[in-house]
Amino acid sequence: MRTIADHVLDIAQNSVNAQATHVKIKFVEDREKIVIKIRDNGCGMDEEKLSKIFDPFFTTHKEVRRVGLGLPFLKQNAELTGGYVHVSSTPKIGTILEATLFKTIDCQPIGDLAGAFATLVTSSTDVIWEIERCLEKRCYEFSSKALDGVDLSSPKVIKMIFEYFKSMELSL
Ligand SMILES: Nc1ncnc2c1ncn2[C@@H]1O[C@H](COP(=O)(O)OP(=O)(O)OP(=O)(O)O)[C@@H](O)[C@H]1O
Ligand SMILES: [Mg+2]
Repeated sequence: MRTIADHVLDIAQNSVNAQATHVKIKFVEDREKIVIKIRDNGCGMDEEKLSKIFDPFFTTHKEVRRVGLGLPFLKQNAELTGGYVHVSSTPKIGTILEATLFKTIDCQPIGDLAGAFATLVTSSTDVIWEIERCLEKRCYEFSSKALDGVDLSSPKVIKMIFEYFKSMELSL
């Protein structure tokens, strides 16, 4: 089953594909809803492109793996809960996505959010990642600037980063 953590991976991957060097992720959850905000400084989109991003199978990527279902799926899943997805973008400046999902019976499980954050940070290492995660009033923040000089190709380090996010999630 697709989880909300899968969506986070998908939309953050869109920022990486858009050549962003700085991506801010805010994942805020309370008893009623989940709000995801992702802001990047990637290539952005003009009005015409922006008007197509929720069309199933719209993709500007030619690789076989890309099917162009990332944003349509997120929109469908958010709307099923009574929520929404809003995207604003400026060419050459970047893109801001905001999604709200209400915790109704139709809301997908959150899934492995720690794994999603750790995957992003350890796989796209030239991006500066800033992550803010809140559950009710408790929050943690992470900036990949803290990893300056750390060898992100070392399996030991990668494992530590996965464990770090897991422990931060457990602390909430
Ligand atoms: N942050 C972004 N910056 C610039 N363009 C974006 C961004 N997010 C999405 N897009 C544009 O919207 C298109 C559709 O995005 P979507 O995630 O639905 O599909 P995809 O990434 O191409 O394929 P898939 O997600 O299925 O692998 C992308 O191909 C890209 O052109
Ligand atoms: Mg995508």
